[in-house]
Amino acid sequence: MTSSEPSEAGFRAEVRLVDGGEVAIGRYALPAAAQLGPLVDQWLSPEEASVLGRLRSPVAARAWLGGRVAIKQALVWCGRVDVADAHRVSIRSRTSGGKRDRPTAWLDATPLEASLSLTHDEQMAIAAIGAGSATVGVDTVRIADATASVEAAWFTPAEKRLCSGRRTRRAIVWAVKEAAYKAIQRGEPFRPLRLEASLEAHGHWRCACDTGERMPVDVWRPGPGRVAALARARPADAAAPRPRETLLAAGDR
Ligand SMILES: CC(C)(COP(=O)(O)OP(=O)(O)OC[C@H]1O[C@@H](n2cnc3c(N)ncnc32)[C@H](O)[C@@H]1OP(=O)(O)O)[C@@H](O)C(=O)NCCC(=O)NCCS
Repeated sequence: MTSSEPSEAGFRAEVRLVDGGEVAIGRYALPAAAQLGPLVDQWLSPEEASVLGRLRSPVAARAWLGGRVAIKQALVWCGRVDVADAHRVSIRSRTSGGKRDRPTAWLDATPLEASLSLTHDEQMAIAAIGAGSATVGVDTVRIADATASVEAAWFTPAEKRLCSGRRTRRAIVWAVKEAAYKAIQRGEPFRPLRLEASLEAHGHWRCACDTGERMPVDVWRPGPGRVAALARARPADAAAPRPRETLLAAGDR
């Protein structure tokens, strides 16, 4: 991990189409360390401020804070939360047993109905919000972190052939697998060899799981030196995606 500040601080949002469903994406590049304090007051609930206070590593704390701000700004942008209520919203990503889990949003004691996903490091956080019964998964990987040893240990033979030593390709494959896991997991740990990324015609990425699930994955570059992937898993019995107006109701765009 590097400790350099991001070049462009601030929040950007967009809508991406994956598998016919719209997903709101918020990208948040953290400001300089000296400006982090006001973010806590504006965006964190008391519960979250207490969690942040217990994080020992400044790098982990910065990443964690960036994730909460990104996901809440995205909820505001979608019209799901009023900006004035951001400090009443808690983003929880632990099971009652303390295991890491997909994030959920709560307004005081009331859960917000939305599929959420989050990825962050100490410089940038990306939040995804899906509509309907589909679940979303988002992941970002720094290209420098996509080493040959990651490929050797965690890629299937077909993925190794797809990468053939190219680091950016490796980063994409890793991001695709993690995004797909976040979208489809049902409490099981991340087992990278059970997921296989593939590149289809026209440059479209897909991910298949050994359970038989298969999903399209959107891949892009959210900033210099990194790649991001967004997976959307639609259960067989999923309702049709909600129309754009429902997902993107009036809000602070
Ligand atoms: C979830 C996982 C797949 C990816 O996490 P990660 O890459 O460490 O971290 P990211 O920043 O991308 O994502 C973290 C967020 O994902 C969410 N998350 C955590 N567990 C999750 C799960 N089981 N399902 C869905 N989302 C989950 C949380 O919101 C978490 O942020 P938070 O703790 O601040 O709430 C993780 O289980 C994992 O095992 N990763 C392997 C990491 C690795 O080996 N990297 C090699 C470097 S190339």
